[in-house]
Amino acid sequence: MFVYGAICERKNLQVRHFQLPLPGWPSTRAGYRIALLADFHVQNLDTAELASQAIHLAIAEQPDMIVLAGDFVDDWFPSLPPLLGDVLAPLHQMKGRVVAIPGNHDYFSAPPDALATICDELGILLLRNSCEVLDGICWVGVDSYQARASKPDQAMKAAQALGPDLPKVVLWHEPDAVDFLPTGANLMLSGHSHGGQFVLPGGWAPKHSTMGRKYVRGFYPHAKTPIFVTSGVGTTFLPSRFNCPPEVAILTLNPA
Ligand SMILES: [Fe+2]
Repeated sequence: MFVYGAICERKNLQVRHFQLPLPGWPSTRAGYRIALLADFHVQNLDTAELASQAIHLAIAEQPDMIVLAGDFVDDWFPSLPPLLGDVLAPLHQMKGRVVAIPGNHDYFSAPPDALATICDELGILLLRNSCEVLDGICWVGVDSYQARASKPDQAMKAAQALGPDLPKVVLWHEPDAVDFLPTGANLMLSGHSHGGQFVLPGGWAPKHSTMGRKYVRGFYPHAKTPIFVTSGVGTTFLPSRFNCPPEVAILTLNPA
């Protein structure tokens, strides 16, 4: 199973479509489409190639917005920023319709300064405990919980001040942190869990990510804030996937 997962399933990238009915979502934004990508874990040419494929598939779907939900890299080392820059470069054609947050791995070995520089150059909006209004939606980015960089109260307070009546989409890398998010958002988007990554028949996964155990994969409409968790693109811990292929998640948002 491990060898099959390492050679085949790990690279079996799938575009998956999800309908998300959301309480309080405005009818003026019915049918809004988000391409959600996370957990590239770029560390070499092989992982960069998979991340590139995912980005091209997301752009081809012509979504209203692309969301990058953290863990761009596995660990920072000197030759990585140029490689990551090449991977993310096609997103420039989205003309500012890309929002992003750092994940815990983006803090490994160094703070995510290189990521911030790349995002600036490509017009990607990197939100770190801050928010911005695009398309009449307030996008709220909370920095990584596991990197101890999260300030959810600050980010949500800023969002309320910016547009109390605007729909709010929160990006926060670690899904189980949704229980700590102040109320007021319509939706939270996360990665980090890798969907369990190596899931045996019956649904049991031998290794779950810390803060990715309760909300593992898919849509949880009855969480404190409705949350969608993508299975992500890359791998962590072991370079193999089973019963949990990498995905580009295309989300269509509608009023519940
Ligand atoms: Fe992570």
